[in-house]
Amino acid sequence: MSTILLAGGAGYIGSHTAVELLESGYDVVIADNFSNSCPESVKRVEQITGKSVKLYEVDIKDAAKLENVFSENSIDAVIHFAGLKAVGESVEKPVLYYRNNIDTTLSLLECMNKYGVKNIIFSSSATVYGEENPVPYTEEMKRGTCTNPYGWTKVMMEQILEDTAKADSSMSVVLLRYFNPIGAHESGMIGEDPQGIPNNLMPYVAQVAVGRRDHLTIFGNDYPTPDGTCRRDYIHVVDLAKGHVKAVEYVMKNKGVEVFNLGTGTPYSVTEIVTAFEKANDIKIKYEYGQRRAGDLPESYANADKALKVLGWKTEKNLEDMCRDLWNWQRNNPQGYNK
Ligand code: NAD
Ligand code: UD1
Repeated sequence: MSTILLAGGAGYIGSHTAVELLESGYDVVIADNFSNSCPESVKRVEQITGKSVKLYEVDIKDAAKLENVFSENSIDAVIHFAGLKAVGESVEKPVLYYRNNIDTTLSLLECMNKYGVKNIIFSSSATVYGEENPVPYTEEMKRGTCTNPYGWTKVMMEQILEDTAKADSSMSVVLLRYFNPIGAHESGMIGEDPQGIPNNLMPYVAQVAVGRRDHLTIFGNDYPTPDGTCRRDYIHVVDLAKGHVKAVEYVMKNKGVEVFNLGTGTPYSVTEIVTAFEKANDIKIKYEYGQRRAGDLPESYANADKALKVLGWKTEKNLEDMCRDLWNWQRNNPQGYNK
């Protein structure tokens, strides 16, 4: 069976993808510097699947150290999750974000070139559609203007990967544009474990539910949407992870560059999400309305037709599953992995 390197695979999406790949029969190697994760997530992946993962603690920016991973394993494809992702922090520390996110990409491409690895899947984001494009987003739309350095790193990395594939016709690049991944593995053993105060909506809601935060502030209720709060395309992280298994099959059979949206195609508002979490788990979430957050778009959701047509992938889980599984993880791990 093929061996897949998950760069940044100890993180939220990487750990869920590792489970799905292992359960589909792939061998998994993870390289991570644990800047936003810990080895415990990988142990739990092994417990869930009953299979072992080869784990390297390495800063992927460091191409010389990363080379050990390539020289010691026969890698068939790389999935590049390794990046910093906090939007607000990227505005305060742009150089840190450009350095980390661009350099991890370049080091991976250099090692791949040296060891003849031709297949790479990249964790991109719906954020690359920027401010100009109308919803629902389709893959052939031009990348737009981002509102923060994090988003620009994704735009730049997509460009770097496209240029690399253009220069080497034996390469295969898949750009996966994620919408809003939430939820957790149904075992409750792995999930999202943000450091400090969560930036994203659902980890914040979960921490209010578990008593770590007093209340949620909903950022703005005067948007041009049905209930005035922003609408997003929330996707269960296990569905997203399964999309990666399909992308691995695809990347190994095809050449060139292909882009896929990974979303459900159905938007929900912040208020709808909070209500769904309350209903699914029979818990009250204290919230108040506050100011809009800088850089937020009123709506972001996918047209997910291409992934269905080309990869044969679509989401299977609904909003209730997302809310229930998130709570199951948070309740069992109130302090995340650090309990
Ligand atoms: P995460 O922070 O949980 O995972 C990223 C992993 O990369 C972490 O384990 C971190 O330690 C590692 N990492 C970062 N820099 C590294 C480096 N220099 N060397 C080695 N390891 C490094 O985040 P996630 O939510 O799992 O996201 C994975 C990818 O998907 C990221 O690139 C992110 O930008 C992208 N993405 C995430 C979302 C989302 O909502 N979670 C949405 C769109 C895109
Ligand atoms: C954000 C990033 C996006 C990134 C993604 C994953 C911005 C503008 N976009 O997406 O680039 O890929 O995270 O890291 O930051 N909300 C509240 N209260 C909160 C938190 C969020 O009301 O405490 C609202 C937001 O205003 C938004 C929705 O919930 O309308 C979802 O927010 P979030 O989870 O941060 O995701 P995005 O903003 O869609």
